[in-house]
Amino acid sequence: MEQTFLMVKPDGVQRNLVGEIVSRFERKGFKLAGAKLMQISEETAKMHYGEHEDKPFFGELVGFITSGPVFAMVWEGENVISTARDMMGKTNPLEAAPGTIRGDYGMTVGKNIIHGSDSPESAEKEINLFFQVSEIKTYSKQD
Ligand code: CMP
Repeated sequence: MEQTFLMVKPDGVQRNLVGEIVSRFERKGFKLAGAKLMQISEETAKMHYGEHEDKPFFGELVGFITSGPVFAMVWEGENVISTARDMMGKTNPLEAAPGTIRGDYGMTVGKNIIHGSDSPESAEKEINLFFQVSEIKTYSKQD
């Protein structure tokens, strides 16, 4: 079954949005396979955001994601990678539709509450970067 990596960013944790965000994906029907509150090191942040290394906002991005705890998650389900991104809304919260997480709760592109993998390749890379195999759980879920 397809898996994705989702992460409530420091702004979402500080604003007490973890429960709300977890609840949206649970109610949709996806299965939570792993979750932890963690502080990202600068080294991990640079690996995670490596594709943005040349962007002018790279320093700001790494600084923000390491500024406080994040809530890292692995979610599982059919088409979860693209559906989760639809549920998150556009990267810039001001352009994100109402009803999406960023559309409902965000105001700035830097502090946009949640990150989600954008492809099967990045999902695999990001899950491996943030989780040990033993931290990902397999269990049956009632639909
Ligand atoms: P995310 O999905 O985590 O992936 C890359 C992040 O870069 C993105 O969310 C935004 O939070 C961030 N980002 C994109 N554009 C800008 C920008 N112009 N200034 C600051 N951060 C940005």
